Amino acid sequence: MNAVPEVTRAPRHDDNLVLVADGLAKHYPVRRGMFGQATVKALNGVSFSLVRGKTLAVVGESGCGKSTLARQLTMIEPPTSGRLLVEGEDVAGADKEKLAQLRRRVQMVFQNPFASLNPRKTVEQTLSEPLVINAQMSATERAGRVAQMMRTVGLRPEHAKRYPHMFSGGQRQRIAIARAMILDPRIVVADEPVSALDVSIQAQILNLFMDLQEQFKTSYVFISHNLSVVEHIADDVMVMYFGGVAELGEKKTIFAKPRHPYTRSLMSATPAIFEADRRTQIKLEGEMPSPLNPPSGCTFHQRCPYAIDRCRAEEPKLREVDGRLVSCHRAEEVGDADG
Ligand SMILES: Nc1ncnc2c1ncn2[C@@H]1O[C@H](COP(=O)(O)OP(=O)(O)OP(=O)(O)O)[C@@H](O)[C@H]1O
Ligand SMILES: [Mg+2]
Repeated sequence: MNAVPEVTRAPRHDDNLVLVADGLAKHYPVRRGMFGQATVKALNGVSFSLVRGKTLAVVGESGCGKSTLARQLTMIEPPTSGRLLVEGEDVAGADKEKLAQLRRRVQMVFQNPFASLNPRKTVEQTLSEPLVINAQMSATERAGRVAQMMRTVGLRPEHAKRYPHMFSGGQRQRIAIARAMILDPRIVVADEPVSALDVSIQAQILNLFMDLQEQFKTSYVFISHNLSVVEHIADDVMVMYFGGVAELGEKKTIFAKPRHPYTRSLMSATPAIFEADRRTQIKLEGEMPSPLNPPSGCTFHQRCPYAIDRCRAEEPKLREVDGRLVSCHRAEEVGDADG
């Protein structure tokens, strides 16, 4: 049995862990009908550690809570409960000034660079903006830094005076990545950063992310619903389902033998991965339950071909099986049924 890797260990302070999430939850109050109030549990107790210089990929279908998690990690909104440590510092205890400082260490790249870039600002204006917080920097130094960053992400500095619409989709995402990287953050949270791009461009942008990581030792939380993308870029993988963690561990461990039926069904739906190891196909049937009406027991049981009575009654805890964490009562049998 493999040792449980660092990403899955219980949260603790360690210089090697740049980001630690400990039971992060986010519940949104929503109106229901004319008078009713209800709660959407978008995120329901997520824990993981991000290792310095590594990439944790977060994968799961639409509505499972990926972007909600991203908003907690980038401190855009406060969690309902749980703790977040950025380089060992507890976000909850931070005053305004400290919070601003912590936020600068965690930058975000969004799915759609057209929406995330201001159409009325040139590349130079967009990239200079974050630099203004450094009062010591002169305008000439800022321009120099912008030119350098443009080259680093594969853009031509002579295009600094151009506006976003004058660039292709891939180039626009390079601008957004440059903006995220320009203050040398420790962590970048990227929420589906290649899904809006042409397939031919996706690999180039993924390779850019990987080159930048090697150069600057940045740690990534990389959100994607595409397992081929995840396989390309991840060191560790967290599979989310219905606001919780289904499976978490090293990529090679999980891809070699997924132990959660949900992970298996995601993999069978990805042809390249499916064909590579001739895994028995599990078809994902039905839809995720409504967050306003969560099922009893395991949140996956209604769609799970392995479900037994226990799964309908008892919520599975995240536990160690075969070198990863998995929340399934039958995890030991799942990986072994068909080798
Ligand atoms: N501000 C909000 N108020 C109420 N419900 C919300 C809010 N934000 C998200 N939700 C709900 O929380 C759940 C998770 O949403 P989230 O956007 O995090 O999912 P996602 O995994 O990013 O999905 P996608 O792949 O479609 O981007 C969904 O049911 C969503 O409707
Ligand atoms: Mg999302």
